[in-house]
Amino acid sequence: MTKSSWTWLFLVFICSLRACYLYWQSTAELRATGSGFVPWHRFHQPASPQLSPFSSENDTTIIDSTPSNLFYFTQISDLHLSKFRARGHTLHFLHFVRSILPIVNPNFVVVTGDLTDAKDIRRITSQQYKEEWDVYRQTIEQGAQYMPWYDMRGNHDCFDLPSWQSHVNFYRTHGKSADLMEAGQGIYEWQLTPSYGKYRFVAIDACPKRGPSRPFNFFGYLTSKTMDRLAQVLQPESHYNHTFVFSHYPTTTMVFGLGEVLKWYDPNGHSLELELGDMMAHGVYRIVAVDHDLISFVDVELPRKQFALHPTIPLKPNGEILWPARIHPAPIVLITNPKDARYALPHKEPLHRIQQSQHIRFLIFSHVPPKDLEVSVMIDGEPHPVAATRSISKTTHPPHDPPLWTAPWDPSQLNQARLHTIDIRVTTPDGQVGKSSTVFRLDNRRVRIAGGPGEFIISSNMIIVVSYTLDYYYYYYLTDKKMILTSLICIITCITLSINLNSSAQY
Ligand SMILES: *[C@@H]1O[C@H](CO)[C@@H](O)[C@H](O)[C@H]1NC(C)=O
Ligand SMILES: *[C@@H]1O[C@H](CO)[C@@H](O)[C@H](O)[C@H]1NC(C)=O
Repeated sequence: MTKSSWTWLFLVFICSLRACYLYWQSTAELRATGSGFVPWHRFHQPASPQLSPFSSENDTTIIDSTPSNLFYFTQISDLHLSKFRARGHTLHFLHFVRSILPIVNPNFVVVTGDLTDAKDIRRITSQQYKEEWDVYRQTIEQGAQYMPWYDMRGNHDCFDLPSWQSHVNFYRTHGKSADLMEAGQGIYEWQLTPSYGKYRFVAIDACPKRGPSRPFNFFGYLTSKTMDRLAQVLQPESHYNHTFVFSHYPTTTMVFGLGEVLKWYDPNGHSLELELGDMMAHGVYRIVAVDHDLISFVDVELPRKQFALHPTIPLKPNGEILWPARIHPAPIVLITNPKDARYALPHKEPLHRIQQSQHIRFLIFSHVPPKDLEVSVMIDGEPHPVAATRSISKTTHPPHDPPLWTAPWDPSQLNQARLHTIDIRVTTPDGQVGKSSTVFRLDNRRVRIAGGPGEFIISSNMIIVVSYTLDYYYYYYLTDKKMILTSLICIITCITLSINLNSSAQY
């Protein structure tokens, strides 16, 4: 090994020790309350004795072709708006707001942290830059002024912050939900109360009280006071059809992600924890739909090939945003019935409705008018005999007409004890293709997520230590081939010690 490799190894070691110490210190309060290392378990409801609280017997709700009992929202994360990075980062966010939001038109947008990058040009030191926050605020105000928008801080938004009151806590002045967050002391909630149910959404700010500088900033940190408030907020769970919890930090504070999406089903809490990929590098956004209380989602990437370079601070002197040219994404398909069996929540979803349903249902988001789209549906590899059509709301002024497509089907014709596949393919006149494939069951069972190492790591209960930032790894890996060995060691260190990088949403 070269001399520099040894130096890096040594640094990894020192960082690990330091991280252990910081972790130990920052969780002292949690340990004192006797709640153990995994604070989330405090909120887990005891497993209910019966298999499912839902009964098909008296359920008169039938999934048919009407565009009702359906809403959807969009989640993005890790924007890392940066005044230094020309690729990704700010540009991705601008394209999302400019070109994607008008097509998707969700009920609301939620941003789970790391709104800005707060790193210097060499990515070594951290600092809160007002320009980055100005771009964030102005992009929303000028590009999504009518969109309900909820946000929260991530670890980057807390770099070098002495306190919430600090003048460099720009979230306080530029964050859309800063007032809610301040009033709720780190937690706030909002609700959707359409005629067909009550849905609750909870956002948690898990910034450490005192934001440490890089690279010691990976720990989500809830004080016992905040946790008590969270427990309180989540208590009357039964009054809601569904509760969604959003936080920048995975609830086990120990997730390792290389831009890969981590998903995990928690058998104790009967909840799903779904990590979301980042907006900054991968341009990922998620659309979550709740259709007749069945939750489905799709993670989509921006069509990055269509992007041209753009100024890193896209603000004109008068404060207007300099928008990039619009892009035209391929159609996005989100199947809501039959729901994907890998993400089934038998304790929280009326899964029997799939089996009793009269129509296949899916959403198509596209800038192309519905009549010009070519839509094909395959079940278990066979073309579905009936064509899918766009479902139009009967009311004259629908507040929110979802781009719902339906096709009649008879699920009783399918083997109830088997896994089935559904494939939907949407083609535009200019040849762009949007596809969705999922697996489903008709016997209310869920199937393994098969998340591989991702699922293993997010679900295992190893004690966590963060040693090292992946940025360093990328940086040196890409710039110096000799660093490969060191990089490998770093990766192994990171995997074994585990890292907390992604943002999460718990449903
Ligand atoms: C369904 O409704 C009937 C009649 O109201 C009632 O007797 C029965 O207990 C109900 N079943 C369930 C599972 O709630
Ligand atoms: C929401 O919950 C209420 C009360 O349990 C129920 O009557 C209603 O059908 C649910 N909504 C949907 C869309 O299932």
